[in-house]
Amino acid sequence: MSNTMWGGRFESGPDAIMAEINASIDFDRRLYRQDITASKAHAAMLADQGIISAADADAIGRGLDAVLAEIEAGTFEFSRALEDIHMNVESRLAVLIGPAAGRLHTARSRNDQVATDFKLWVRDAIDGLDGRLADYQRALAETALAHAGTVMPGFTHLQTAQPVTFGHHLLAYVEMAARDRGRLADARTRLNECPLGSAALAGTSFPLDRHKTAAALGFARPTANSLDAVSDRDFVLETLSAAAITAMHLSRFAEEIVIWTSPLVGFLKLSDKFTTGSSIMPQKRNPDAAELVRAKTGRICGALTALLMVMKGLPLAYQKDMQEDKEGAMDALAALDLSLVAMTGMVRDMTPDTERMRAAAGAGYATATDLADWLVRVLKMPFREAHHVTGRIVQAAEKAGVDLADLPLAAMQAVEPRITEAVFGVLTVDAAVESRASYGGTAPANVRSQATAWLERLAAG
Ligand code: ARG
Repeated sequence: MSNTMWGGRFESGPDAIMAEINASIDFDRRLYRQDITASKAHAAMLADQGIISAADADAIGRGLDAVLAEIEAGTFEFSRALEDIHMNVESRLAVLIGPAAGRLHTARSRNDQVATDFKLWVRDAIDGLDGRLADYQRALAETALAHAGTVMPGFTHLQTAQPVTFGHHLLAYVEMAARDRGRLADARTRLNECPLGSAALAGTSFPLDRHKTAAALGFARPTANSLDAVSDRDFVLETLSAAAITAMHLSRFAEEIVIWTSPLVGFLKLSDKFTTGSSIMPQKRNPDAAELVRAKTGRICGALTALLMVMKGLPLAYQKDMQEDKEGAMDALAALDLSLVAMTGMVRDMTPDTERMRAAAGAGYATATDLADWLVRVLKMPFREAHHVTGRIVQAAEKAGVDLADLPLAAMQAVEPRITEAVFGVLTVDAAVESRASYGGTAPANVRSQATAWLERLAAG
């Protein structure tokens, strides 16, 4: 039997494999709410414009509500033969209300319908992610405030560089999350134009009011070019790009959690809530959640790459290739949502070993830059010369097997005779972080005011 929705010129049904390759219902069923909302807006507008009768629009509206209720109750039977969510809904509507259902598809096509539905879905997903990112920022800023003065080593090349505070480190991720939210918001603004009424590709001869449906669905305006409207998937690509960057940021922090919870480093502990044991090694406490956040980045970036590859060779206008936009994007945005919840949980769960962090901050000659800066400030030495002198003092400390703060003054004076006792004032890790009070620097007072400012901003929404 040929398809009841489009089978007028077909004599026989499709090959069995067509249901497998052609049907998208297994994943696009998740668009049911958006599909029904958009259809109701379309039907109401058709009636307002006198294109269908008010009675038919009423029947369609009530019928669509009934379909929605069936889907939400789990009693709706999805059919692969009906390919996708659009035809599943319309076909059920026909069973429920009879011939009036056939008027719903006036002046539209599945091409503008699917673009509209998916924009609505992606828009909701962006709003959800924005809330998750705000929760994540709040957890980071609260922990940063509590640890504004907790000293730890800062690293470059994963080598001890200069002391920083744990709070400062956490606030770095708050900034990244703020830019991630900005990118998602930009994507949302750009996608917020309504394709509905573009019909198959060329627009329609019916006297639609596209501004009315756009407004009813919360779009800023209708799309301006019907060919572009049904061919555009860059709203998905842009959202996936923002998601991939967000995931990359989460992955960097996840990697740090993995490193910091290793017994070799021991800066952080995660509780039983966010670790797992080994089935063979009883001593193990593995940071699985962090590892999985790191790993999920792969599929999120993968979805972006996959859709870029799908789109890059497509001539205008709609091509069935574009149906492949949904599965990867839905999977990727769900993975990001999960990753954000897990990261927020880990931030709230983590206990820093502040003694160990402080000890590590003091090791590795982390205050060598402070010594060089002292030589510049007090002895008026050019920085390059101070760098060289400090290098020789570090060498002496290394030979003596002590930290800079424990090297006798005489040993320093052997390198530079003008050095005085006062130099020891800048060689502690606390002095090092406190002195870095430049705007955006790691000084505890800076961190405290930045964390407080973030928490106020987040509370204001
Ligand atoms: N399931 C399709 C998709 O997701 C809907 C649009 C189909 N349009 C068509 N002309 N075959 O892209």
